[in-house]
Amino acid sequence: MRIGRLFPRLLLAWLALLMAGCAVVGPVRPDDVAGKTFVVTGASSGFGRGVAQQLGAMRANVVLAARRTDLLQEVGTQVAAAGGQALVVTTDVARPEEMARLAQAAVARFGRIDVWINNAAVGAIGRFEDIPVADHARVIDVNVKGVIHGSHVAMRQFRAQGQGSLVNIGSVESEVPLAYHASYSASKAAVLSLGRALNEEIRLSGQTGISVSTVMPWATDTPFFTHAANYSGGTPRMVLFDDPQKVVDAIVWVSLHPREELPVGWKASLATFSHWLAPDLTERISADIVQRQQFDTAPPAPPTAGSLHAPMREGRAIEGGVRERMQREDAARRDPAPPQR
Ligand SMILES: NC(=O)c1ccc[n+]([C@@H]2O[C@H](COP(=O)([O-])OP(=O)(O)OC[C@H]3O[C@@H](n4cnc5c(N)ncnc54)[C@H](OP(=O)(O)O)[C@@H]3O)[C@@H](O)[C@H]2O)c1
Repeated sequence: MRIGRLFPRLLLAWLALLMAGCAVVGPVRPDDVAGKTFVVTGASSGFGRGVAQQLGAMRANVVLAARRTDLLQEVGTQVAAAGGQALVVTTDVARPEEMARLAQAAVARFGRIDVWINNAAVGAIGRFEDIPVADHARVIDVNVKGVIHGSHVAMRQFRAQGQGSLVNIGSVESEVPLAYHASYSASKAAVLSLGRALNEEIRLSGQTGISVSTVMPWATDTPFFTHAANYSGGTPRMVLFDDPQKVVDAIVWVSLHPREELPVGWKASLATFSHWLAPDLTERISADIVQRQQFDTAPPAPPTAGSLHAPMREGRAIEGGVRERMQREDAARRDPAPPQR
């Protein structure tokens, strides 16, 4: 087929996909959530905190896992005040015995697990060789092994119950690898691949009540960028940030309406489609954007391992304040302060 004829069809396919990606997330009926048991890892900040609070407001049983116990207790109090039930289990997802304990605690308290959300993860920003190898290894321990530990205990419980929804939080980087995020991109590709393989195993076993969904958000304004290791020399930056509420809504929705892959919003849908159509070009454009934001534009920042090896005090809310900080940085660049005499 000539390229002139092919182009309109590709454009139509792209538009259809874009519309599907944007329209797929609908409202959730509180009655469909009330009384169900959800395990949420990474529930102390960002998406996990938002999801836990939203589920609490719909009177769910919410099992809260992360390393910062004080924040989990704060979220637990909010869940209970809103009419839900909360159980706090301090957990490092990289430790398989702690994930097994998390599942046992959930079943002991609520009798079953309806939804398991593997949301906890960390990032590492910088040139691959400038990031200490221990930090790359920790990204894999938390983001890949943590999701395997969680998926393993959840799948065993779901098989025993004959039902359950596993939700893994991937990223647009599950499909589009990003320069200066090498091990993070690799970890998120692994999360997507794990979900695809598990769905085939479930299909082959004929157990129709079990599902695995991978949620793929675009860059979103959460404490993720405060918690990430950063050896780029500049403050963490990205473009066209989404609001966390959009991703929180998508995670809650997909936990009841499973989708093998759910890019969140038009930017993630467009990026994944563009990568399918023209992978090299998409990767080049994405890399050029990060190069400009992270190395050519960002004000200086000291190297940090972020919250990879130990939790940080900072970054306690759902929102991360990155958009505000970037606006301040952009304004200061456009209008630099006069030199001090
Ligand atoms: N924000 C974005 O731009 C974006 C885009 C795409 C995908 N995502 C994904 O979204 C998910 C949530 O991230 P977020 O944006 O909400 O950032 P966040 O606020 O930093 O949330 C990460 C959560 O993971 C927890 N965590 C980190 N290491 C852990 C460990 N070893 N064991 C247990 N919990 C651990 C953190 O709590 P503690 O420190 O208390 O343990 C925190 O609650 C992640 O999977 C991330 O990769 C984010």
